[in-house]
Amino acid sequence: MMPWQDSPILVTGGAGFIGSNLILQWQSCERGPVINLDKLTYAGNLRNLQQVASDARYTFVHGDIADRQLVSQLLTRHRPRAIIHLAAESHVDRSIHGPDDFVRTNVNGTFSLLEAARAYWTELPVEEQSVFRFLHVSTDEVFGSLGENNPPFSELTPYAPNSPYAATKAASDHLVRAYHHTYRLPTLTTNCSNNYGPYQFPEKLIPLMILNAVEGKPLPVYGDGKNIRDWLFVADHCEGIRTVLEKGTVGETYNLGSEEEKPNIEIVHMICDVLDELRPQDPVIPHRGLIRFVKDRPGHDRRYAMDTRKIQRELGWKPRESFASAIRKTVDWYLANEEWVHDVTSGQYREWIERQYSNR
Ligand code: NAD
Ligand code: TYD
Repeated sequence: MMPWQDSPILVTGGAGFIGSNLILQWQSCERGPVINLDKLTYAGNLRNLQQVASDARYTFVHGDIADRQLVSQLLTRHRPRAIIHLAAESHVDRSIHGPDDFVRTNVNGTFSLLEAARAYWTELPVEEQSVFRFLHVSTDEVFGSLGENNPPFSELTPYAPNSPYAATKAASDHLVRAYHHTYRLPTLTTNCSNNYGPYQFPEKLIPLMILNAVEGKPLPVYGDGKNIRDWLFVADHCEGIRTVLEKGTVGETYNLGSEEEKPNIEIVHMICDVLDELRPQDPVIPHRGLIRFVKDRPGHDRRYAMDTRKIQRELGWKPRESFASAIRKTVDWYLANEEWVHDVTSGQYREWIERQYSNR
């Protein structure tokens, strides 16, 4: 049997946006193998992981976190020292159109995974039990919406989820909390703000705007464009997850974010301005000419903001990137990866865009 410190970590949802960035970063910075359990929904893409696909330290398993038998077998066979749980349905607009999958994966799937993890952890030798961690990756959206003058969300802010997505993530956070409190399962929870960067599926604001702008398609801004988000570059989030896994106190939750709040319209303007410089030959110049204010998202949260002092103070994590520099890297990445873009923007993606934006 391999020494415990060389045991793998099990990542769920590793073929998605944050999961694939995490696995790529893990493989370049850490020792030890990774098992990636992913159902490959529309949001999962193995192309994201081509760089590590043939690495002996990487194993992909196609499956559902809600498949208790499969997960139990995986845990017994690979004996991971940690589970980093990212698998989820993650898009607010999709949760408004069809919440079923959100309840199924985010609530029932997390419950099933926790049950399998508890059974596995209970049987581990005592030294291994004390090292094992279940790290649950969650969102700032569980805290609800802030008014203009409210202080940012802290780890003590009461939960007030507003969308079906946020409600199912909140439910999963509560289950994780209860598994620590009741069974002493060594859990850690991270609540992070909006991410952006390479491999993000273009249903989300930033990649959607980049890809529409270069094609001369309308840039649909919901409502008045003044909804505010805190945006964190995905590599910073992944570093934060690794920090919490290594140094976090069991049972605690940690807020992650950039503490750079921006209204959506400012984000769209910045993308347009970068593209004006990089793509002066695009069909519509200036790109800002493509902006269209469209019907608002139902129940649209007005403002998210994060107080990240706890993780900075206790674990020494803070983001490396500023929005101004990382948005350029992100635009560059989408321009340089036409094949990836082509791959994800066919089929089901086209149907979604048609359904989502046709009546706005
Ligand atoms: P994503 O939608 O890009 O990827 C989700 C991945 O989970 C996909 O690969 C999908 O195939 C997989 N998956 C879905 N259902 C599954 C199931 N039942 N079993 C196994 N795999 C399944 O999501 P993301 O943006 O990478 O987010 C990852 C996690 O981080 C989510 O839990 C999300 O709530 C959280 N989060 C995301 C953000 C953000 O801005 N994207 C911010 C904070 C927290
Ligand atoms: P999104 O990327 O869907 O993330 P979330 O809803 O989880 O914050 O949206 C970010 C913000 O951008 C949100 O306020 C909704 C807004 N938005 C638009 O204005 N137009 C769009 O086409 C999309 C997808 C989002």
